[in-house]
Amino acid sequence: MSTEPTIREAQLRDAEAIGRLHARAWKTAYRGILPDAILDGITEEARIEQRRKALREPFRPDVVNWVIEDEGTVRGWASTATARDDDLGSETFELLAIYLVPDDVGRGYGRRLMEHCVAEGRRLGFAEMTMWVLAGNERAQRFYAKAGFVPDERVSQEEFGETGALKLRMWRTL
Ligand SMILES: CC(C)(COP(=O)(O)OP(=O)(O)OC[C@H]1O[C@@H](n2cnc3c(N)ncnc32)[C@H](O)[C@@H]1OP(=O)(O)O)[C@@H](O)C(=O)NCCC(=O)NCCS
Repeated sequence: MSTEPTIREAQLRDAEAIGRLHARAWKTAYRGILPDAILDGITEEARIEQRRKALREPFRPDVVNWVIEDEGTVRGWASTATARDDDLGSETFELLAIYLVPDDVGRGYGRRLMEHCVAEGRRLGFAEMTMWVLAGNERAQRFYAKAGFVPDERVSQEEFGETGALKLRMWRTL
């Protein structure tokens, strides 16, 4: 990181960079966690289209997408909203997604994005924050633990093609 990175709200024009890094991050971070057939079937084009649609018509009105940019390049993406789980009240903020370009992992961009999302939750008056993480994604779990999150005992079985994967929820106060 040679300049000070900036974090800003994503625009429709960012769909390409976000979709591309999302596809690449899945193929890298979820290898060995999700089946190869699922990961090999992911294309950057499909993820770009998915992001375009989500930026045009967010699945909930309060979803905000953030990008971290450095030297004119998008390095990562995060998404936040009011938590969606039935057992949580409206005072809970959720990190819906956080993904970096694989080559940019470990350079402090994740930490900056996380700190931004935590600050945003506080600014909006939320009392606590959660996120879901795949059970085998140990790097992300370590990263969240360093940012003050602890597993809150909620687990969920997600369908991925013909197989399933376990997700854990993590939580912190704001
Ligand atoms: C998860 C992910 C975003 C984390 O980003 P990262 O680049 O690995 O993390 P950073 O380099 O910014 O973190 C730097 C350090 O600060 C820690 N840290 C991060 N946020 C922190 C915070 N708010 N307070 C204190 N420490 C923090 C990190 O654990 C790390 O510690 P270390 O240097 O001792 O290892 C990144 O690894 C990634 O994109 N992974 C693939 C996609 C993925 O798994 N996403 C999560 C889906 S649930």
